[in-house]
Amino acid sequence: MLGLTGASGAPYAARILRALVSSGADVGVVVSKAGAQVIALELYGDRGMNPAGAVERFVADHGDAEVRIWGESDYSAPYASGSSRTDAVIICPCSMATIGTIAGGAEANLIHRAAAVQLKEGRKLVLVPRETPLSDIHLENLLRIKRAGASVVPAMPGFYHLPQTIDDLVDFVAGRVLDTAGVEATLYERWGSRR
Ligand SMILES: Cc1cc2nc3c(=O)[nH]c(=O)nc-3n(C[C@H](O)[C@H](O)[C@H](O)COP(=O)(O)O)c2cc1C
Repeated sequence: MLGLTGASGAPYAARILRALVSSGADVGVVVSKAGAQVIALELYGDRGMNPAGAVERFVADHGDAEVRIWGESDYSAPYASGSSRTDAVIICPCSMATIGTIAGGAEANLIHRAAAVQLKEGRKLVLVPRETPLSDIHLENLLRIKRAGASVVPAMPGFYHLPQTIDDLVDFVAGRVLDTAGVEATLYERWGSRR
């Protein structure tokens, strides 16, 4: 499952969705209300875009017909129960609001619930937070979630692979997220691979 919440970074999610589809994974997408606003702004430059339309366009542009969109309150989704054995949940971008909600054990929407399920089942949960600077509360929440079993992969691109374009920076973060989720992808040049 790929969850998108209302933090900056929709281009990372677009790249991750493409790679998940290419890997042959069975992918569902869940987008919060604020996440749909970020998609509309950052991918389509249109603050006034209808949120549902933005999510549908996002999946049409970066996924395929097999990718299912689940509403953020649709608990009939498999991710709402541990019995469905979801391999990995990636939340990218992940807002500090969602980080705080997961850290507090609240399960106010399907994205939070899916995260809580992965933690209770000991399965992969990869969070891609984006905020700067970070407050004590943000840092404590991130530590709490990490200690509970999640992987925290901040949207912090490196520059040692000598990026030439914004896509190179996006691919670097998306590639590290996919590595952490255990998905095969070759989006960036690994350190030490150049002779
Ligand atoms: C365009 C836009 C960009 C935002 N960027 C961030 C961000 O980078 N990090 C963050 O933690 N919140 C950011 N916010 C605020 C969150 O979207 C807000 O706290 C919201 O309640 C998060 O809800 P959600 O986690 O359910 O998506 C942004 C909001 C908007 C509309």
